[in-house]
Amino acid sequence: MSERNVQWVVKDPERENYYWPSEAMKKKAWVSDEKIYEEASKDPVSWWAKLAKEGITWFKEWDETYRWDPPFYQWFIGGKLNISYNAVDRHVKTWRRNKAAIIWEPESPDEPNRILTYYDLYREVNKFANVLKSLGVKKGDRVGIYMPMIPEVQIAMLACARIGAIHSVVFSAFSGKSLRDRMLDAEAKVLVTADGYYRRGKIINLKKNADEGIKGTPIEKVVVVKRLGNEVNMVEGRDYWWHELMEDAPLNCEPEVMDSEDPLFILYTSGTTGKPKGIEHHTGGYAVQAYWTSRWDFDLHDEDVFWCTADIGWITGHTYSCYGPLMNGATILVYEGAPDYPTPDRWWQIVEKYGVTIFYTAPTAIRMLMKLGDEWPKKHDLSSIRILGTVGEPINEEAWLWYFKVIGGGRCPIIDTWWQTETGATLINSLPGIGPFIPTVAGRPFPGTNFAILDEEGNKLGIGEGGYLVQMSPFAPGMLRTIYKDPERFKKQYWSVYGEKIYYTSDGAYIYDEMGNIRLTGRVDDVMKVAGHRLSTAEVENALTQHPAIVECAVVAAPHEIKGEVPIAFVTLKAGYKPSPDLENELKGTVTKIIGPTARPDRIIFVDDLPKTRSGKIMRRILKALARNQPIGDTTTLMNPESVEALKEKIGYREVQ
Ligand code: PRX
Repeated sequence: MSERNVQWVVKDPERENYYWPSEAMKKKAWVSDEKIYEEASKDPVSWWAKLAKEGITWFKEWDETYRWDPPFYQWFIGGKLNISYNAVDRHVKTWRRNKAAIIWEPESPDEPNRILTYYDLYREVNKFANVLKSLGVKKGDRVGIYMPMIPEVQIAMLACARIGAIHSVVFSAFSGKSLRDRMLDAEAKVLVTADGYYRRGKIINLKKNADEGIKGTPIEKVVVVKRLGNEVNMVEGRDYWWHELMEDAPLNCEPEVMDSEDPLFILYTSGTTGKPKGIEHHTGGYAVQAYWTSRWDFDLHDEDVFWCTADIGWITGHTYSCYGPLMNGATILVYEGAPDYPTPDRWWQIVEKYGVTIFYTAPTAIRMLMKLGDEWPKKHDLSSIRILGTVGEPINEEAWLWYFKVIGGGRCPIIDTWWQTETGATLINSLPGIGPFIPTVAGRPFPGTNFAILDEEGNKLGIGEGGYLVQMSPFAPGMLRTIYKDPERFKKQYWSVYGEKIYYTSDGAYIYDEMGNIRLTGRVDDVMKVAGHRLSTAEVENALTQHPAIVECAVVAAPHEIKGEVPIAFVTLKAGYKPSPDLENELKGTVTKIIGPTARPDRIIFVDDLPKTRSGKIMRRILKALARNQPIGDTTTLMNPESVEALKEKIGYREVQ
């Protein structure tokens, strides 16, 4: 590869921590002129219309580009398209027909890999779309997908999209109970799952969790991919093997003509209450933003191998391990397993094996791999990588620099992408051909979008002034349209803090410099980011209180060296129960069972009393400060100020300013 070892970024001689794209990078990049920011902001609606026309194949063009009826908005109204047509059909009509669409690598290096060309993908998607139809799935029906990272997951998603069914993917490490809550809310008719998968060499019996998850839901049919061949229970008339159904499925399934505003998928995410919310994304706007952000953020070219390590159960997996790059006709890498299994260099082995050129992961993974030592990446030739990305939580400087130097060899820009399940695709980051790349600073809003940092009263803040990140109209086309079946919650959650014309992100941020680069400082609500996964403190509390020992509990996020944040729980026990390491483990296990391992509290702190206001409300502000060693502030308004002193001792509090 002639591009290897090219100096893709150069250091700013004036500013210690700024890097810029080199001339070679600018020459190669799709966008390299910073004028696009200004050009886009003059008339963002026309800007997006132009992008929509260029990037997406429409069966019929829209009649109206953008309609805003606060807080609701629509894009490309009257436009007709199908996203699976955009992701597969249009490529099989070109030279890309035989290009690798998906390179799949199993967890074990001893098992064979799988490579699906665009034509393979086309065939499988068509066939599975016909399978879904034969099971009675129609346009608008919801289909649950509960699967490991195997190519059937992209096939199932694209097949749903092809027939206009709305998929709702549930992270495979979530428990059966979590699956059930989501399937009940979504009223899904069919579930696609697998017999099992490997995680760190261990067999995970996914079908067993799925069986528990579908109890009492409207799911009538279950399609099971045979991934491992482990023993599973198949219910006659309800459960079918994927491979058996596919055998007889006809090859052609005409893509459904979808309206731009027809729902494409629902993805559940944590809000501030215990009940996850079904974030609803619609077809046209999502397709446009997924397509262009994939192309420009990662400077995606035909010869690239794009590896986004996110699980498909998260929005990052949806947009960058499926729709975005596939619509671009790119080659994506899908890896089934853990980053450090069977050896700590598993990821780097894979980068070398396939010559990965774009690598996109989360700060948690970077910190974990950094801790394992430089010798692991150094064993491998990583010089194929030209662009690095990060997502999901703020990245600390040490991790940024390690990623930059050790993984990127000092050549590669780091694209620190800020976005949310709600935004559908990235929104704030530097672009590889424009820059700058500054450790811990995400960058500028994507051209054609409009953000500000406000204080509590809604005044716009200037450089260095910390406040709340908001988005203004026209809202990016890929933004959520509503919360499934709950438009009131949509209004309350995002459009009540500053009114129905300003989208409230729940993130703290400030403007870093005169260019308008933005630095994110973390969530300002009761949502945690645990190893990049989004989790509400209320969900963990709900799970804990299902244990008979608990009277009351409060969960807050505490900082963690690798995972960024971890839940810690303060609990009071019923009479007859005594604090013990066994009980602590049992309580942690309850959370794992009810939600999944990500939510497992790092510590359980047994207390006699929780700090409360005079009206009896638990004062989380104080618990958070305790967990973070921050100043506690005023405790005089508490009903039980003495509880704070006892807690300080238990938690080992040392105040740092
Ligand atoms: O707090 C922000 C953080 O992740 C939240 C969204 O989480 P989720 O919906 O799970 O989506 C994650 C993947 C898009 C945001 O509200 N976040 C995401 N990216 C960044 C970030 N915080 C800082 N820097 C980022 N690059």
